[in-house]
Amino acid sequence: MNKKIALITGANRGLGFAMSEKLATLGIKVIMVCRNKNSGNEAFLKLKEKNLDVVLKIADVENINDIENLYKNISSEFSYLDILINNAAVNLENEKVTIENIDINCFQKVMNINLRGPVLMCKHFIPMLRKSESGRIINFSSGLGQLSLPRTGPYPSYSISKTAINALTKILADELKNTKILVFSVDPGWVKTDMGGPYAPLPIEKGIDTPVWLATAPENELISGYFYKERKIIEW
Ligand SMILES: NC(=O)c1ccc[n+]([C@@H]2O[C@H](COP(=O)([O-])OP(=O)(O)OC[C@H]3O[C@@H](n4cnc5c(N)ncnc54)[C@H](OP(=O)(O)O)[C@@H]3O)[C@@H](O)[C@H]2O)c1
Repeated sequence: MNKKIALITGANRGLGFAMSEKLATLGIKVIMVCRNKNSGNEAFLKLKEKNLDVVLKIADVENINDIENLYKNISSEFSYLDILINNAAVNLENEKVTIENIDINCFQKVMNINLRGPVLMCKHFIPMLRKSESGRIINFSSGLGQLSLPRTGPYPSYSISKTAINALTKILADELKNTKILVFSVDPGWVKTDMGGPYAPLPIEKGIDTPVWLATAPENELISGYFYKERKIIEW
């Protein structure tokens, strides 16, 4: 049996770093994709010092060329991929932003990172995931992107990007229904990270529980093309 390989974007801090550590501890080789060379290297060394099997790759998911080069580099080194976690994201707006006063350049940047990045990551890496016995794509969504809930917050660009991520999951799961690749959206809950802030109720270990489970649980426990929170399917 080949060792499982996972790729995680935004792996230098927050949920991405914690998932890198957890999956590597479970015996999975983790490709840590980070945009910042220095903090990426620091994060990578922290896990290397624990003798974990991790690899560092630098790429900004906002940059189309970076993603293409990342794919060329990884596919020349590895012949397959088992788990793709589209975790990297930004929320660049403050609470006063509405559609009426939105800065469209900021909107575009959020879309490029939070949505175009994952779309391109899927486009490039699905061929490698097809070579896995049990491929998984885990797209990080948010309660702020959940259409079935009354709106709980501002941040229009971020919310729209996360609703669109849910659409990406649905579309991909349908396109890949005759393959061994399962596709999920996940809401980690409100987690204490740089993005979640200090008042978030959940510690990072709780935030990574569902995505790590989606990445590692036996296939018969999971249904592709759904939105998960706390290990359960939730409404879109
Ligand atoms: N925390 C929460 O309460 C919460 C709730 C719901 C959903 N989520 C989702 O969970 C995921 C992880 O969030 P988090 O709380 O861990 O956020 P975080 O602490 O702010 O970390 C975000 C990560 O994304 C990376 N990133 C941002 N833009 C990037 C780019 N252009 N290219 C590559 N990497 C980039 C950051 O790298 P740099 O260090 O270079 O900036 C960082 O590693 C996100 O998708 C977020 O939307 C979080």
